[in-house]
Amino acid sequence: MSTQQDFPRIGVVGAGAMGRGIAQLFAQAGHEIVLCDSQPEATAAALQAIGSTFERLTEKGRMSVAEAQAARARITSVERLEALAGCGLVIEAIIERLDAKRLLFERLEKIVAPDAVLATNTSSLSVTAIAAACSRPERVAGIHFFNPVPLMKVVEVIRGVRSDAAVIERLIALVSATGHRPVVASDTPGFLVNHAGRGYGTEALKALGEGVSDAVGIDRILREQVSFNGNGFRLGPFELLDLTALDVSHPVMESIYRQFYDEARFRPSVITAQRQAGGLLGRKSGEGFYRYVDGRQVSADEAPVPPVSALPPVWVKGDDDRAAALAATARELGADLESGSQPSARALILLAPLGEDATAAAAGLDASRCVAIDTLFGYAVRSCKRRVLMPTPATHPEFLAAARALFAADGAAVSVLRDSPGFIAQRVVAMIVAIGCEIAQQRIADPTDIDAAVRAGLGYPAGPLEMGELLGPATIVAILEGMHAVTNDPRYRPAQWLRRRALLGLPLYHQD
Ligand SMILES: NC(=O)c1ccc[n+]([C@@H]2O[C@H](COP(=O)([O-])OP(=O)(O)OC[C@H]3O[C@@H](n4cnc5c(N)ncnc54)[C@H](O)[C@@H]3O)[C@@H](O)[C@H]2O)c1
Repeated sequence: MSTQQDFPRIGVVGAGAMGRGIAQLFAQAGHEIVLCDSQPEATAAALQAIGSTFERLTEKGRMSVAEAQAARARITSVERLEALAGCGLVIEAIIERLDAKRLLFERLEKIVAPDAVLATNTSSLSVTAIAAACSRPERVAGIHFFNPVPLMKVVEVIRGVRSDAAVIERLIALVSATGHRPVVASDTPGFLVNHAGRGYGTEALKALGEGVSDAVGIDRILREQVSFNGNGFRLGPFELLDLTALDVSHPVMESIYRQFYDEARFRPSVITAQRQAGGLLGRKSGEGFYRYVDGRQVSADEAPVPPVSALPPVWVKGDDDRAAALAATARELGADLESGSQPSARALILLAPLGEDATAAAAGLDASRCVAIDTLFGYAVRSCKRRVLMPTPATHPEFLAAARALFAADGAAVSVLRDSPGFIAQRVVAMIVAIGCEIAQQRIADPTDIDAAVRAGLGYPAGPLEMGELLGPATIVAILEGMHAVTNDPRYRPAQWLRRRALLGLPLYHQD
C-alpha cells in the first residue's frame, strides 16, 4: 500500500514555522492536508507562505506549474479542530508546552477515528508524557522534523514507551515516501540528533573554560585541523552557538544534562550561563563569541608565525609508528633529527600524546624543551592546512618559537594551545564518538541511524561511529583513557560499547 493510501488525509495542527513546512512536504508527496491553528491569521499566513514557496520552486524549475497548483490545492485550512475528524494521521506542531500538547491530544482523540495515528513534532518534551493524556497511547508517536522541513532531509520517528510498533512502521514508510530519511529513536532526552550533538559545544566550552585557547582559536582548529575524508566541521562550535543563540542553546544544554540526571559528559558551562545573562546571545543580538556588523562576522586575522634564526636539533619521543611518522615529517620540514635513545642537552623535544597533556607526556624529560603536536589528523608536508602545538607550562619560549617555525615551514597555519589533555580536536572528537557509542549502548537507535541522523541533522563531516571507525576505535579509547587519567573526570570515561569493540577488534557498527 502506498503511503497516500495509508494516510490519504493528514491533519497538521500549528501553522507556524514547522507546521507550514510539514504541510508543504506532505502536500508535495500527494497527501491531502488539513491545516489548523488556534490563530486563524497563522493559517492564512502559512497558506500564503506555502503558495510563494511553490511559485519560487516553479520559477527555479524544481516543480512544474501543474504540480505546484495540484500540491497547493491539496492543502485546506480549517478553524475548528473538529474538522480533522476524517484525518487518519494528525501531526501536532503547536507551542512547546507539555500542558498545551496534552490538552490538544486529549481533544484530538475524541475527534479522530479510533485507529487514527497522533504524532507530535516536539523537540524536547517526552512523547510518552504527551501520549499519557490519551486513552489509547499506543497510537501516539513522535515525528520530529528539523527546520526548514523541506530542506532538512532527516526525520526522527520517536518510539514512546507505549507506542505500537505498527504505528512506528507506518510513520517510517510515510517519511521515506517523501524522500526524507527516517531514523528511529526511543523516547529519551534530546532523542537522537540533539543528544548526539551535545559533545561538540560542551567540550569546546570546557576547553575554553580551562583557558586552553580562545573561541576563535578553537573554531579555527575544528574547521581546519579536523578532516574526515577531506571534510572538516563547516562551522566552529562558537560560530554555531552564535547562530543558534545562547537563549536557545544554553537552556537546552542545561535541560539535557538535568534530564540525564547530571551525566558528566553533558555538564554545561558557566561561560554560556554568564554570557546569556549579559545579553551576548550571538548573531541576533549583534554580539556573541564574535561581533557582527551588518550581519557579518568580525574577527581579527591570525598573526603570522615569526621566523627563527636557527632551529635546534630535534628529538622525537617514542618508538611507535606515530613517533616515526612525526620524525619523518619533522625531517621533511627541515629539522636536524637526533637519533639517540635520549635527547641531547640542546634538542627541541617533540611529543605526540593521545589524550594526555604535554606535562604528562613530558614525564622523565626536560619539560622546558618539550612541545607536543596533535597527530590525530593528517599533518603531512604541504597537504595540511593547520597543525596544532601545545607546550608544557615550563616550556621555554625559545623552544616553542622553534617548534612553531618548524611546523609553519611549508606554509601551514600553526595554532598554539595552553596545556590540555587531548589538545582540542582529540578531546572534542573523542567526546562525539563516546556519546554516539552511549546512544548505541542504550539502544536508543541503531548505529547506522545514529550516523545518518548526525550527518543530515547536524551537518558533521561524518557520523559519530564513522568518526570512530575512521580514526580507529582503539585510538579513541586511548584518547579517552588518557584524558580520564589526567583529569579524573568521569566525563572522559571510555564508553563501554566503544571499549568492548576496541578490545575485540569489532567495528563500532557491530550490534549484539
Ligand atoms: N522551530 C524549530 O526549529 C523546531 C524544530 C523542530 C521541532 N520544533 C517543534 O515544533 C513545534 C512548533 O514549533 P514552531 O517553531 O513551528 O513554533 P511557532 O511558534 O512558529 O508556531 C506554533 C503555532 O502553533 C499555534 N498554536 C499554539 N498553541 C496552539 C494550540 N493549542 N492549538 C492550535 N494551535 C496552536 C500558534 O498560533 C503558532 O501558529 C514545537 O513543539 C517545537 O518545539 C521546532
